[in-house]
Amino acid sequence: MSPLSRTSVTSLATIGLFSIFPAAVLSQTSAFTDQATGIQFQRFFGARTNFGFGMALSTDTTSKSFIGQLTFPLSNGNGWGGWSLTGDMEGPLLMAAWSDGKGNVISSFRQAFNEDDNPPEVAGTFTLRPIAEATSVNNTFLTYTFLCENCLDAGLGLAPEVQSAEMGWALASRAVRNPASSAGVLDFHNSGFGDFKANLAGARNAEFDKWAALAGAPVTGAAGAKPFDVGAAGAGSGGSDDEGDGNNSSGGGGGDAGNDSDSDDD
Ligand code: HEM
Repeated sequence: MSPLSRTSVTSLATIGLFSIFPAAVLSQTSAFTDQATGIQFQRFFGARTNFGFGMALSTDTTSKSFIGQLTFPLSNGNGWGGWSLTGDMEGPLLMAAWSDGKGNVISSFRQAFNEDDNPPEVAGTFTLRPIAEATSVNNTFLTYTFLCENCLDAGLGLAPEVQSAEMGWALASRAVRNPASSAGVLDFHNSGFGDFKANLAGARNAEFDKWAALAGAPVTGAAGAKPFDVGAAGAGSGGSDDEGDGNNSSGGGGGDAGNDSDSDDD
């Protein structure tokens, strides 16, 4: 066998191995512009579920706020969608939104301490201020655009200066119990969940302050909201890329969830 053909055989064997054990590839965010407001997001979008989560940040890397936009389908008005500041569910600041069935979007901050129970509502210095111009809900779809004030903090899971971060998403079609309350009970994200890589450097925009000024009054949580537990948030990693962490192998589970790669922007 000539050296050349030996190389070819080795290459083929390598290709074969990769196709048997494909490397986990994280979905990436891509540019998306909201038509109602012109806000430019870096957005994760799952083509299978139609779940989207976009972020816009200030060019000031010490600014702790971001503008977020959740977009996802509802099933007869039911379901919820949410994001995590890291690729994990347990520990970091989470947020979920759903319909109250009366034309309003209800949202709340959550923190999970296990994967079995409804994550309790939490409160802290962070606030949600809806951007009404780009918020709507009906029986089949929800769009929620908001300023997440003081949400970027290493103690919550993601530091303000981070340029690229692994973050998480979740989508359920099941009805939230007691949906009129921000403490409404969430069941498992049966429609999908997973993590994605957020290009936060690409989400920074000099127009941020102008867009943030569209936000209305802060949403008030339910009376029983607990203080966010920084000790449980897994602080330290700052939520930045934790490749090699091995625990976050790109979602999965929840049926065929987790493979919502692609960043179709339609
Ligand atoms: C804002 C709300 C939520 C968000 C953003 C969220 C996000 C996530 C993410 C990113 C994962 C994968 C990473 C990890 O295992 O830590 C996950 C896993 C999981 N979540 Fe959630 N979650 C939320 C609410 C819930 C609720 C309400 C339940 C059930 C009561 C739940 C149950 C689970 C379970 C069982 C897993 C592990 C599934 C598996 O490994 O197959 N989650 N979640």
